[in-house]
Amino acid sequence: MRPLIAGNWKMHGSLRDAGVLAEGVRAGGAGARAELLVCPPFPYLVPVGGALGSDVALGGQDCHAAAKGAHTGDVAAAMLRDVGASYVILGHSERRADHGETDSVVRAKAEAALAAGLTPIVCVGESEAQRVVGEAEAVVTLQLDGSLPEGFAEAGGVVAYEPVWAIGTGLTPTEVEIAAMHATIRANLEKHFAAAGAKLRILYGGSVKPGNAKGILALPHVDGALVGGASLVAGDFLAIAAGVPDAA
Ligand code: PGA
Repeated sequence: MRPLIAGNWKMHGSLRDAGVLAEGVRAGGAGARAELLVCPPFPYLVPVGGALGSDVALGGQDCHAAAKGAHTGDVAAAMLRDVGASYVILGHSERRADHGETDSVVRAKAEAALAAGLTPIVCVGESEAQRVVGEAEAVVTLQLDGSLPEGFAEAGGVVAYEPVWAIGTGLTPTEVEIAAMHATIRANLEKHFAAAGAKLRILYGGSVKPGNAKGILALPHVDGALVGGASLVAGDFLAIAAGVPDAA
């Protein structure tokens, strides 16, 4: 399967920064082995989408579970689709922490994304305390069981494994730990979706940089990366994308 390298710009930058960054990604994006995706803040979706051209996909960082309605400050999945997004990140640990998103909320949002024709990227991952006591795989399994909706596999849904303690810290699990977790996630996807689960992309996220990307992206069942900080520098983001294995 073609790897996916997704940039999560979070709540960074100005309109001007977003335009420069998008131009930089576009310039290096044509002909990339990996599929490239950028997820800017909502106000910048339209100009960034225009600047990216057709070789780089556009995504949102969240959507509401409802199709429309009285939800001040929220954005509907169909609105993201309307402005050219094809993906939406859901259940990021920062959303779970800042907005109290539970697995069932994430699942409802993923259903809304599917209904609107967006591909959900559902994020899971354990805290440091959970890893220390040996609960990482159990936590991630519960998150997957609670947040993946019916129809996820048919739509080519994506799972991103992002250990909370690795996000923005410069720390990562060892390659052995990443491979073990991705194998667990693959088994879970096959449990839920049978053979279709074998074909879904599982991204690793958390302090992916140009220097560690190649090793991580070569691991079994690592089908791409979800990149935060390093996606804010076009050269770094493209260097990460250049680290996908040749045979992919
Ligand atoms: P990071 O963020 O690459 O800055 O660690 C990853 C993410 O939160 O998606």
